Amino acid sequence: MAKKTPTQRSVQWFGREDIYGFIYRSWVKNRGVPQDQFDGRPVIGICNTYSELTPCNSHFRTIAEHVKAGVLEAGGFPLEFPVMSLGETLLRPTAMLYRNLASMDVEESIRGNPLDGVVLLVGCDKTTPSLLMGAASVDVPAIAVSGGPMLSGKYRGTDIGSGTNTWSMSEDLRAGRITLEEFHEAESCMHRSHGHCMTMGTASTMASMVEALGVGMPGNAAIPAVDARRNVLARAAGRRIVQMVKEKLSLSKILTKKAFENAIRVNAAIGGSTNAVIHLIAIARRIGVDLKLEDWDRGGRGVHTLVNLMPSGKYLMEDFYYAGGLPAVIRELGEAGLLHKDALTVNGQTIWANNKDAACWNRDVVHAFNKPFKKNTGIAVLRGNLCPDGAIIKPSAATPKLMKHRGRAVVFENIEDFHKRIDDPKLDIDEHCVMVLKNCGPKGYPGMAEVGNMPLPPKILKKGITDMVRISDARMSGTAYGTVVLHVAPEAAAGGVLALVENGDTIELDVAKRKLQLLVSDRELKKRRARWNKPKPPLARGYWKLYVDHVLQASEGADLDFLVGGSGPMVPRDNH
Ligand code: FES
Repeated sequence: MAKKTPTQRSVQWFGREDIYGFIYRSWVKNRGVPQDQFDGRPVIGICNTYSELTPCNSHFRTIAEHVKAGVLEAGGFPLEFPVMSLGETLLRPTAMLYRNLASMDVEESIRGNPLDGVVLLVGCDKTTPSLLMGAASVDVPAIAVSGGPMLSGKYRGTDIGSGTNTWSMSEDLRAGRITLEEFHEAESCMHRSHGHCMTMGTASTMASMVEALGVGMPGNAAIPAVDARRNVLARAAGRRIVQMVKEKLSLSKILTKKAFENAIRVNAAIGGSTNAVIHLIAIARRIGVDLKLEDWDRGGRGVHTLVNLMPSGKYLMEDFYYAGGLPAVIRELGEAGLLHKDALTVNGQTIWANNKDAACWNRDVVHAFNKPFKKNTGIAVLRGNLCPDGAIIKPSAATPKLMKHRGRAVVFENIEDFHKRIDDPKLDIDEHCVMVLKNCGPKGYPGMAEVGNMPLPPKILKKGITDMVRISDARMSGTAYGTVVLHVAPEAAAGGVLALVENGDTIELDVAKRKLQLLVSDRELKKRRARWNKPKPPLARGYWKLYVDHVLQASEGADLDFLVGGSGPMVPRDNH
């Protein structure tokens, strides 16, 4: 029987017998690639977000080597390439400003190169959505491999978690409960190995989303970064992506509406980050799936939080892995009838086939569905005159008695205004007030910073009060907690009603009724609007300008309007 001619993209580079074939092959041979490597075998890109500026991804050279070994073992041709890496802790004004830019880098790097499939190395918060968004727009076979969480933080005999204890310890310092020396000591104790934040923050949430969506190998969410089994998973992904190219199993066959609905339920069951709402909507819209805010509210209803992890609970990702990890959670959801069991995953099996026999080794970490850690959680989507296009709150991180609350607004015009006034003992505020922060949304910050969980005024902390209702157009770190209303849309800088809130206004929050209302008459709001001045963007050139001119609101995934959708795996014309 005649050998079938390969049809994948890379053949249009490496399978040529003309001057272009010479150009495409010869320069690649400069490091010792033999001629037989160009025989039509699948060419696999390893999309690496290694950077010393992204501490959470600092071990990715090693992970890439394991993926490469797997690709070679399966008869593929691996080619590693760097893309813009987004580190949550160093990048200013916020890594989120650059998520869409990095996604463009990923999309164009895949489209412009002789790649048939890609393994996406993801870790720190924004690296996961940016790589998935970019790959989704090209719709090639792809597997995401997360870098894995750090080992648990250990401080003076107790476990401490990334972010979660950063907030609590900085509040302890402000309230005079700990010394500066203790604060410094905790810095070294908290982050003591390779990996990303080891609470159920955004990185762990997105690693869980990768597994729940079926775009990662089973077990992707929780294996610690420095556990040898993380490297085994990377190697298995390298082997598998070669087969996926042969099976033409592209992302659109995995990232279906059912897969997103599964991920929404998993997010509720893990007490996952609110950031997942924006990222999943953005990824879905890149691959033609119509995912809306209401899908989050509807999908998460009736789902309980099963995982007792910080910030909602007490354990960390290392404990989660040893207790059975995400497979144990997915099994519980499946048995409770809350899973689309037939959703396909990258290993060629359905999500149910992958997880139906998953074991749980510690029911204090992963609770059974009939004995949940917290009941009826999910993400609540609020509407009202303050957020006609929606706002969200994470009930599992909120104080139950504040979920129905009416209070006097104390308004901060921007984050600088907040920092200037919050420590002032004369600030007119008490624990019943509602803290309102403006101009921290996608256009306003720009980039929609994680500042929505505003620290409380010291005079209130000193009374032992740890939570108040807070409202903003910002995001909140996945490691943070509190009765915090986020992602108010339209944002203040886009002329949303949030821009018109004044000190002393009354605001009513009713999470059960999904309501957020500014109790000010329409007539008065009209007067205020006439006086409103649109804030000037801080930088009116380059990418910042492109971003501010084109970014969509949080309810639409905060993608750039012209990036929504995809172009598929088209091959551009020759380059010479
Ligand atoms: Fe990178 Fe938290 S800072 S995951």
